[in-house]
Parts: sequence; structure tokens; C-alpha cells
Amino acid sequence: MTEGDERLRVAVLGCGAVGSQVVRLLAEQHDDLAARVGAPVELVGVAVRRLDAPREVEVPEGLLTTDAAGLVARDDVDLVVEVIGGIEPARGLILSALENGASVVTANKALLAEDGPTLFEAAAKAGRDLYYEAAVAGAIPILRPLRESLAGDKVTRVLGIVNGTTNFILDKMDTSGAGFSEALQEAQDLGYAEADPTADVEGFDAAAKAAILASLAFHSRVTASDVHREGISEVTAADVASARDMGSVVKLLAICELRGDQVAARVHPAMIPRSHPLASVREAYNAVFVESEAAGQLMFYGPGAGGAPTASAVLGDLVTVARNRLAGTRGAGESAYADRAVQPMGETRTRYHVAIDVDDRAGVLAAVANAFADHDVSIQTVRQEGRGADAQLVVVSHAAPDAALAATVQQLREMDIVREVTSVMRVEGGDE
Ligand code: HSE
Repeated sequence: MTEGDERLRVAVLGCGAVGSQVVRLLAEQHDDLAARVGAPVELVGVAVRRLDAPREVEVPEGLLTTDAAGLVARDDVDLVVEVIGGIEPARGLILSALENGASVVTANKALLAEDGPTLFEAAAKAGRDLYYEAAVAGAIPILRPLRESLAGDKVTRVLGIVNGTTNFILDKMDTSGAGFSEALQEAQDLGYAEADPTADVEGFDAAAKAAILASLAFHSRVTASDVHREGISEVTAADVASARDMGSVVKLLAICELRGDQVAARVHPAMIPRSHPLASVREAYNAVFVESEAAGQLMFYGPGAGGAPTASAVLGDLVTVARNRLAGTRGAGESAYADRAVQPMGETRTRYHVAIDVDDRAGVLAAVANAFADHDVSIQTVRQEGRGADAQLVVVSHAAPDAALAATVQQLREMDIVREVTSVMRVEGGDE
């Protein structure tokens, strides 16, 4: 912002699915944005990799550039929107923008989850804002509620469906009985899943989001490498059918919990009861369920991806950051004062559902029960179905350290009376 000129100048880095919608909304909402901010918000540059690439928006003449570093170094840029994604060059560009006095809005979950503290420290040093609502669950306002609305409460748990691709696949498996590969193919055909679906199906995307959620919820630094991660590629039609028999559904959950004075953060498929609010989240939608001491249970639901929904979250941040800028102030920065340690997964208390094919003869049920007892795991329910000389046992445990449950399953696999362990999955959302 230059002396006597109250326009706020915005540079956008990246003009793909999200960037093009940011550019569109900046133009279409120009007058309303000016009224809401208190000054016109002008687009002054859009950095892209290739000038001649096809794009979903017409960028005004002369604004496109391939020189992103030059754009963020301009001394007339007040606000930088980073929607390139990935670690570099995004990190260098954001740091350079902050050093040059710009405030930053980013949707970059991978970077925030890997190296958030470097960015937060740079923003604090520069006295500028770094906002990132769009990094988790697209259009759903969840980071601001955690950072601001619940700042006076004590959040104890955040349970989220934060990856639309995997939710679409699991929903398809549940409704049609399809296997993982078939459901993935359909997700790819419909454009929900990438040609290389690894980041989504193996839980990397959700783990980055879990790290961001846990950091904000528990005022501690949690990075992607602190998050225990398992994807959905091993989920079988038998797992989904077994869940259905129990009145449950399989979801890929990001689970962030306060455990004593530690934080636990994990991403894995889990069975949740169909009566749980997250069970009704269908197709590619996202939802985040928050439990806090005073507020109780809250649920945030909506589209978690897509150009326009994600751009909505970016623009919301842009308005806040622009207002702060105009007022000569900045919003709350990083809050990591609690500095809680991250609990190792093996110590985190979880519940397991285990389906086993066994011989149907005297002592088998007792032997299976003993395997649980050997690891000090208490059984909550057992269901047995006779199948001639065989039987299927479905055991659901009470909560126990995850390592004890994993060791129980290993012991079951090694027992002569066990023909096959057909399904192993954690259970969430019910009584422990
Ligand atoms: N690929 C993500 C999803 C969206 O499927 O939800 C971006 O984080």
C-alpha cells in the first residue's frame, strides 16, 4: 500500500483449478470485496509456469508472468496468494513475500504440515499475516473456528473425513459391494481420483491435514511425520461387509486427540457406527467433528476440494488479511505454547474389530479369548456364526494400547485353530 493510495495489491502464484477461481472471484466480486474490506483489492500479477497453457479464466492483459520470484519481490505487492502447492518453489516464494512485507494466504497443506514453523516464524518476524483456511477441507471453515471461535475452550478431540477421494471410494464400496480397485477406477473415471492416486489413497493428504488440525486444536507443533498414517488400499470388500454386519461403515479418519498431556495424531481406515454423524458423510464430501470441554460436540460439513470451493476459503482469508493490513495490524499468529509431545502410535489407545475363520470345536473360543487376555486386551463383544466344520468369530475389543492389539492379531494369525484372520480394522466413534 503506497502513501495516499489505499488500494490493496494482490499477486496470485499459480493459476490452476484453485488459482483461476481466485482470479475469477477477485474480478466478479470486485465491488463487494472493496466494500467489505474498506478499500479496492486489485490483482496486479499472476505467476504461472507457462504463459500459453489453457486456463479456466481470462487473466487481464499484461498480468501473467512466469517470474514468480520477481512478482513477490515487487515492493507494491501487499498480499500474496500461494496456490502452487508442493514444497518448493512455494516455500521460497512465501518466505520471500513475507520478507518483502507482503501478507500471505496459502492453501498449501503439504508445506504447512512439513515446515509450518519456519513460515510462522517468518510471518511473526515480518509482522505480517499468514492465513491458510483452504489448506484443510476446502471450503469448510474449520481452521478459523479452531483458532478463534474455540480459543477459549479446551478441544479434546478432532475427528475428520478430510479426503474426498478416499471417502468417495469407501462410500462406493459400501453402497455397491465393489472392491477397492473397482471403486478406485470409478473415482478416476469421474475425475475424483488422480491418475497417480497415491497421495490420497495412502493417506498422505489426510496426514498433512491432520498435522495442521492437531497443531491448531492443541496449541502444539505437530508435523506430518508425527502422524501415524495408513491408507485405504488394503481395505477389502470383506472389511466393508463386516462393518455393515455390525451396523457400521468404513471411513478414512484423521484423528487428533488430547491424551493426558500428550497429543495423538493418526490417519487410518476405521469402522464407525452408522449412527455417528460422520457416517452420513457420503461421496466426496468432507466433515470435521470436534469435541471440546465446554462446547461439546460440533460438526463442520461441506465440499473439501474443487476450484471454486477452495477459492471461497482463500478469498475469506484474503478479506481478513486485507482488513488487517488496512488497519495496520495482524491477526493471531502461531499458538504453540502448550508444546505437547506426540504420543507414539503403539501407546495410543484404540479399539479393534477382528474377524477370524476358525475350526468349530471345543476350546476354540477360549483359545481366541486367551490370545486377547495374553496381551491384557479386554473383549467388548464376540459374535459367532457356525459354517459347518468352521465358524466365523467377530471380536470387538475395548480400548487398549495399539501395540497390544497388533500383537494380539499377530498371535491369532500364528494359532493352529485359526484358519484365517479375514478382517482387522480399528473401531472409532462408540463407547470405549
Ligand atoms: N485430493 C484431496 C481430496 C483434495 O481428495 O480430498 C485436496 O486436498
